[in-house]
Amino acid sequence: MSGKVVLAYSGGLDTSVILRWLVEQGHDVIAFVGDVGQAEDFQAIAEKARHTGASRVYVEDLRRELVTDFVFPALLGNALYEGRYLLGTALARPLIAKRQVEIAEQEGAYAVSHGATAKGNDQVRFELTYAALNPSLEVIAPWKKPEFFSQFKGRGDLIRYAEERGIPVKATAAKSYSEDENLVHISHEAGVLEDPAVRPPEEIFSHTVSPRVAPDRETLVEIRFLNGKPVEVISLEDGCKLHDPLELYIFLNRLAAANGIGRVDMVENRFIGIKSRGIYETPGATLLWVAHRDLEGLAMDKEVMHLRDMLIPKFSELIYNGFWFSPEMDFLLAAFHKSQEAISGSVTLALYKGNAWPVGRTSPTSLYNQDLSSMDTEGGFRATDSMGFINTHSLRLKAHHLVLREADPYAWRKNI
Ligand SMILES: Nc1ncnc2c1ncn2[C@@H]1O[C@H](COP(=O)(O)OP(=O)(O)O)[C@@H](O)[C@H]1O
Ligand SMILES: [Mg+2]
Repeated sequence: MSGKVVLAYSGGLDTSVILRWLVEQGHDVIAFVGDVGQAEDFQAIAEKARHTGASRVYVEDLRRELVTDFVFPALLGNALYEGRYLLGTALARPLIAKRQVEIAEQEGAYAVSHGATAKGNDQVRFELTYAALNPSLEVIAPWKKPEFFSQFKGRGDLIRYAEERGIPVKATAAKSYSEDENLVHISHEAGVLEDPAVRPPEEIFSHTVSPRVAPDRETLVEIRFLNGKPVEVISLEDGCKLHDPLELYIFLNRLAAANGIGRVDMVENRFIGIKSRGIYETPGATLLWVAHRDLEGLAMDKEVMHLRDMLIPKFSELIYNGFWFSPEMDFLLAAFHKSQEAISGSVTLALYKGNAWPVGRTSPTSLYNQDLSSMDTEGGFRATDSMGFINTHSLRLKAHHLVLREADPYAWRKNI
């Protein structure tokens, strides 16, 4: 079948070859480039898409939406995949796919296409979003089509195909690993980074300075939240205040980057079951996550927090696996919004050589009672109440002791 196709176009070699290949298959290809904060010359990419055969090119600035509609909701639920990955790529993919679907509808296209590979997470994130938002669109994923991948067995085939058709191939030698960059992070993986035992060379890092060369003095910043969302960032260096979500995010990125904050080197589990070594630089989000979690310590109910914490692995897995637009995600986000109703106030962070830690927090909805917490005053707390509290909790342990441990109270430990 042929007709109008909207291709998610990054400007790289793969998507350029795919673009022309689709044209040669008889398609009318509309290229869509999402500006999610990657350092690119978008005019040059648009020009390249037209030159390669696109009948129309959309370049759209999605940065603000990335922050307000994807990063902030992830922050509300403290999303962190496998305890470490801040999901920089996983958060941007559903946004790119969503806009792509909208353009397809606007253009009356019958299909959408992407150049994600068959081994990765991104194919899933794109295609689940297409399915959730417009299941009537056909999906053309060339890296899963034998007639495509049998023609392009390696980079050499792609380069030859491009050169034969006058599609510009970057003169610079391709990096020996793969990167994905946006406003939230840059990831580095594959190639020379595949051996998990090998330390990444310092040159790969591009969004953060090495903590070793970061300033020898602390930088202080205050972040103010309203119902869990960042609404103000105050530099305690020069008093500058930012309120716009995109501006404050960019500012936090810069501050954290200059202090070497946000580097993670990990082996993670991809959705499709393959393990993968990834190196991430996620400066600004690292600050937000630390500050937000700290404010919750002051303002969130204990049981709500503990229940919410049980949901974090699931929430993170849904984002990672590409289920941003799903009923279970809507359910979780509604719960997280509820949990954030009183998460308002300010946290001051100290930034120093790769670390960020809270040094003070205030909240108009604080649940902290200094008199109750204090070691020095009774504060309305009856010391004798604690006796009953402990006695009640002891009942079960005493019964257990009677049945199992009376003969040798330490026997059970011998196997540990
Ligand atoms: N900023 C973007 N705008 C539109 N589509 C994108 C963008 N980034 C990535 N894609 C799509 O996602 C696919 C996979 O992305 P990626 O793994 O980063 O590969 P690439 O080397 O093409 O950037 C691309 O082939 C393209 O279809
Ligand atoms: Mg890319």
